[in-house]
Amino acid sequence: MKIVLAENSGFCFGVRRAVEQAMEAAQEDLTTSTLGPIIHNPQVVNKLADLGINSIDRLEGFSGDRIVIRSHGVAQEIYIKCKEKGIEVIDATCPYVKKIQRKAAQCHQKGLPLIIVGESHHPETQGINGWCESSAYIVNSLSDVEQLPNMDKACVVAQTTTAREKWDKLIAHLGERIKDLEIFDSICDATKNRQVEALEVSKRCDIVFVIGGRNSSNTRKLYEICQQYCKHTYHIESALDIPKMDYGKFNELGIISGASTPDWIIKEVFVTMSDIERVETTEQIVEPEAKEAVSEEATAQPQEAEVVEEGAKNPESTEDSGDANFMEDVEKSMVTIRPGTIITGKVVTVNESEVCVNIGYKADGIIPQKEFSTDPDANPAELVKEGDEIEVEVIRVKDDDGNVLLSKKNVEARKNWKKLLEDYESGVSFEGVGKQAVKGGLIATINGVRAFVPASHLDVRYVNDITEYVGKVMPLKILEVEKHRRRVVASHKQFLLDEEKKEKEKLWDALEEGLTVKGIVRRLTNFGAFVDIGGLDGLVHVTDLAWGRVEHPKDVVSIDEEIDVVILKVDRERERVSLGFKQTKPKPWDIADDRYPVNSVITGRVVRIVPFGAFVEIEPGLDGLVHISQIADRRIEKVEDVLELGQEVQARVLDVNPGAKRISLSIRDLIEGANDGADDDYYEEEESSSVLVDLSQYQGEEEE
Ligand code: F3S
Repeated sequence: MKIVLAENSGFCFGVRRAVEQAMEAAQEDLTTSTLGPIIHNPQVVNKLADLGINSIDRLEGFSGDRIVIRSHGVAQEIYIKCKEKGIEVIDATCPYVKKIQRKAAQCHQKGLPLIIVGESHHPETQGINGWCESSAYIVNSLSDVEQLPNMDKACVVAQTTTAREKWDKLIAHLGERIKDLEIFDSICDATKNRQVEALEVSKRCDIVFVIGGRNSSNTRKLYEICQQYCKHTYHIESALDIPKMDYGKFNELGIISGASTPDWIIKEVFVTMSDIERVETTEQIVEPEAKEAVSEEATAQPQEAEVVEEGAKNPESTEDSGDANFMEDVEKSMVTIRPGTIITGKVVTVNESEVCVNIGYKADGIIPQKEFSTDPDANPAELVKEGDEIEVEVIRVKDDDGNVLLSKKNVEARKNWKKLLEDYESGVSFEGVGKQAVKGGLIATINGVRAFVPASHLDVRYVNDITEYVGKVMPLKILEVEKHRRRVVASHKQFLLDEEKKEKEKLWDALEEGLTVKGIVRRLTNFGAFVDIGGLDGLVHVTDLAWGRVEHPKDVVSIDEEIDVVILKVDRERERVSLGFKQTKPKPWDIADDRYPVNSVITGRVVRIVPFGAFVEIEPGLDGLVHISQIADRRIEKVEDVLELGQEVQARVLDVNPGAKRISLSIRDLIEGANDGADDDYYEEEESSSVLVDLSQYQGEEEE
């Protein structure tokens, strides 16, 4: 007789998770109870009781510290009561059930009637109903649907363990009765897969054992399905219930188990059946994909000492092993794992607190949220989905009743470390995030790798409060790496200095003599103005501030004023730049004849007195000469007899010669009647002599 063991055997994800949470709670020194039996399996319930976790039916009278809510979930009011009584809740509600509860609450909020396809007495159904103030209609048969009141619209959900055929039938009927029906298909795939496989196994086998608690609804459903196709179907809770009979007349025995049946009970049944005389051959249902994964892993992951499970073997070869232990062969077909093994698995389920991964091992692996990513705030549900392949590391291999504890974070961290070392060697900078202020500095993470940033390296300025950098994203330069200790010392300041240097280099490269650039006046001294031209300061010497004489730079520019300057000279070695401001303006002599045409009248100040006349400043850098003969309407001995330094005068322009930088002026010309009569000879003589004077010796040094 062959034994066919359904692949979808043992705990489903939700149950495994709940049992695991309860087992973990048992390790802590707090009085904990489960609200209702954790699963419909007396053996597991007893095992928990041995560990000090009892099951209670109601909260009333409970005086312990914590309760575990089982995978079925509970009504909303239970959470409220726990809060009121100060009871801590370990919420092991299956995430799939949680989703239905949320849907129920939403419908209720919107005033949309809710219909639950399921068993009215089932705790899961009651729990869901408790999220819409028990207003749901619960239907489990066509006649239940018939009895529903008339309604135009409604939402229908399923108890997760509902048989697919029943759901389809009732949905079709509901669709006829309710015009606007929102269908929320909440049948759990784990249940569906188990039911489909039960159907297949029961069709091919002439005897079937369905293992599971008598109160387990999903086991009962499996039993019902199998019974339809195999008349020798038996519902047993454990090996003790195996019926005594002559098994010689059967060809194939199918072993199916409910979602709340622990692996060790399945194993016990198998071993017992193996011991019964005339058990002939073994066979297992392993999907081709799983077989491939097994053989790949077996070669790809040769392990050293401390091997937890035996290596892989071709399942086909077990055909010849006669009475060999089938369960062992099943286990041997699984991958070899031990803490530290890196393996690629497929995501089975995911929610925000954990990810269940099929790693080809007899038990699925769980990645708790804190082991999911190097980013502690990562939400697994946003980053992976069912069917995704991910690389994980085995942290802990649990016993047959538990899950394998996995970490994706460790794999990520290892890769990040390798990448960090490569990048460090190439001298790049990294993006870091401040995590915690510690004595002497800040702990930051660089791609998930911890790094220490000394306080003196947080900025180029002194940092008073290190906590300002917690949560801050900042570029970092790695100063030091101790590979063996995985220790990284990084600096934000170094990054800033490097950047500043780069910017300066760029600026120096861009400096070109003769170029006009914008700058901000930063500092004034007696000898000039320092101007920031985008990261470095250049000097505008006082003589380059204006075309005319400048007493002090403040007479021309002011601090923080933005001005255009011409780059006159670049001395990169001495890091000096000479700038010119006056060079951005036209030279006064170049436009003198336009601005001061002959016969126009100017107002100016006497700036120099010479024996043959007086120089009058018309504007900075532009002086005109009033010859002694043009100063008054009479003959004068000395210029000083009429004019004094600094005196403001008005004069007519007689002649403009920009090439020779000369402007001849006349004050006399503006004096009424001055040109009528006397001393004409004198004026003519004096005027003609003036052209013989070499003016250049009197021109100001400010002129070019
Ligand atoms: Fe959850 Fe599905 Fe199991 S709903 S408890 S994973 S059968």
